[in-house]
Amino acid sequence: MKRLNRNTNDPPQPSDRENDTLSRAPDVKCGMNPIKLMGIFVFCLMGLSVLFSISVILRDPSSSDSLWAVAEARVLEVKPQKGTFVAFKRVMIIHPINSTTLYFLDFLPSLISLLSSILFHWPFIGLEEDDFPQPVEVPKDKLLGGLLPAGFDERSCLSRYQSVLYRKELPHKPSSYLISKLRSYEVLHKRCGPHTESYNKTLEQLQSGQRASPSDCNYLVWMSFSGLGNRILTLASAFLYAVLTNRVLLVERGVDMPDLFCEPFLGVSWLLPSDFPITDQFNSFDQKSLHCYGNMLKKNIVGNSTGFAPLPFVYLHLVHDYDDQDKLFFCDQDQSYFQKIPWLIMKSDNYFIPSLFLIPSFEQELNNLFPEKETVFYFLGRYLLHPTNPVWGLVTRYYEAYLAKADEILGIQIRVFDTEPGPFQHVLDQILACTMKENLLPKINQNEPIIDPSGNQKTKAVLMTSLSSGYFEKLRDLYWEHPTVTGEVIGVYQPSHEGYQQTEKQMHNRKAWAEMYLLSLTDKLVTSSWSTFGYVAQGLGGLKPWILYKPENRTAPNPPCRRAMSMEPCFHAPPFYDCKRKAGVDTGELVPHVRHCEDMSWGLKLIDHENEL
Ligand SMILES: *[C@@H]1O[C@H](CO)[C@@H](O)[C@H](O)[C@H]1NC(C)=O
Ligand SMILES: *[C@@H]1O[C@H](CO)[C@@H](O)[C@H](O)[C@H]1NC(C)=O
Ligand SMILES: *[C@@H]1O[C@H](CO)[C@@H](O)[C@H](O)[C@H]1NC(C)=O
Ligand SMILES: *[C@@H]1O[C@H](CO)[C@@H](O)[C@H](O)[C@H]1NC(C)=O
Repeated sequence: MKRLNRNTNDPPQPSDRENDTLSRAPDVKCGMNPIKLMGIFVFCLMGLSVLFSISVILRDPSSSDSLWAVAEARVLEVKPQKGTFVAFKRVMIIHPINSTTLYFLDFLPSLISLLSSILFHWPFIGLEEDDFPQPVEVPKDKLLGGLLPAGFDERSCLSRYQSVLYRKELPHKPSSYLISKLRSYEVLHKRCGPHTESYNKTLEQLQSGQRASPSDCNYLVWMSFSGLGNRILTLASAFLYAVLTNRVLLVERGVDMPDLFCEPFLGVSWLLPSDFPITDQFNSFDQKSLHCYGNMLKKNIVGNSTGFAPLPFVYLHLVHDYDDQDKLFFCDQDQSYFQKIPWLIMKSDNYFIPSLFLIPSFEQELNNLFPEKETVFYFLGRYLLHPTNPVWGLVTRYYEAYLAKADEILGIQIRVFDTEPGPFQHVLDQILACTMKENLLPKINQNEPIIDPSGNQKTKAVLMTSLSSGYFEKLRDLYWEHPTVTGEVIGVYQPSHEGYQQTEKQMHNRKAWAEMYLLSLTDKLVTSSWSTFGYVAQGLGGLKPWILYKPENRTAPNPPCRRAMSMEPCFHAPPFYDCKRKAGVDTGELVPHVRHCEDMSWGLKLIDHENEL
């Protein structure tokens, strides 16, 4: 069965079938609900066995784009009878707006055609022998269960509403609270975003250097910092912090932010205007800056009643090298101080969300937003991060060319933290050991040069990403030179191999973003320890990866890998501080849903209770 992706086999429009004699049947005039009538009719046919089933799509001819009913292809039961050749189809009548399933009905194929045209004037479409193995064409929910707002111009950012066509169904649904919170954030952003009246007013304060006075719009400025994987993780973290604190998120352009990501909010940009007054100071912001919060604490200028009034802006240094004072950002007392500061400017290279879950004043809100803890990045990422059209072109062209036709796609993301570029034998050994042990790839047959092709001819595509091409070549050759013991056909592909990581170069980052995205479209994923690239892929894809342990001393670790507890990224530099007791504490032991990471013993990640190992 081919993967279901796009509406390539979209049925012809009803008008194509106008001459069909069946659709000339008279109106139904009896008072009976046509659905009911159909049901009764079908009831009489119960008991016939099902040989196979087929997919059909019915359209409401009165409205050209609303899909009214979808017949699901599903083999319900196979019980061949003498001389009969009968198939039932399960028909789901689906609400055209919110895709709610209204009815299930089972039909014989010839009857569905007849009945649908008699009762509904629905032309019956697409029941060809060739179509039998076709998967179901369910109308996909391009708004992701209400996560995305409607109303964007689709062509300016194709990925926003098309991504759903390339992904499996969302395994999780966003909470209604998250949806309503996002809608109210959008209202806030529209009211306070760049060049609005409120923005201009708050900006005046900043320019005049006055002490802060209460403002109806407060801002969080995200500084573009570090590699692309890190930037994506910090962007999600900053956005969640902005939502929790009713701030408007503004994004520094950096070298290529607008080149990589579409605008996520309708109408008003999320980009920090290039005429923003203090951008010239951004480069000099560090832990010693006057406005750095940690430094302000050291100098004792964080206001109390006798002290100083709050500054118009504060710089938050949340980079991995931050110190104990900077880390007090994660304490409630300090959070209450920030409430008075209209402009917070944040620099980070870490996914700091796990520690937000340990701040008591955010706890309830976060529980309401994310009843399933491991879906935080998944939803934030899917909401916020839409590849621009050039990146989307890289994603979709590659997908169509190499991955779409496979029965299964395995992603393998290799990142080697070594002073030399590699490739290394021990890393290859580790990849093979992990994928074979965990049954992600079939073993090869050393003895037979050819496997009888009548066997299992399932195809598996392996998508590899690595700075080096060595691992890809070795794996590809392995499956070229030998058949697999299962008879599966393995194709190995790697989009790019750039040799070394370049942090800010346009095409390099476009490709890196496309590769993360492609990995997120796989069915199963193997990632490297410590890699933010892998975290982004697993999070966006809703995938719990197999994590390759970090090799020590250039030897393949044993065991080579383990399954992740959750799809959440790991916070690499969390604080270990109990704000109430003012003492050190193991923050990975405080609550069941914030635990140490699989790939970094001191890191923190969100997991769901049940998944705890
Ligand atoms: C779908 O829409 C219909 C009509 O607007 C409504 O009655 C139904 O409750 C909706 N279902 C869901 C799950 O929102
Ligand atoms: C805000 O200021 C900008 C430039 O200073 C100006 O173009 C814009 O019209 C102002 N917005 C409002 C709502 O006054
Ligand atoms: C304000 O700060 C000063 C100097 O650090 C301290 O002596 C005083 O107790 C503080 N006042 C309050 C109300 O916290
Ligand atoms: C790594 O190898 C060196 C020398 O071969 C040895 O001294 C060291 O203990 C090894 N370290 C680990 C973590 O195995």
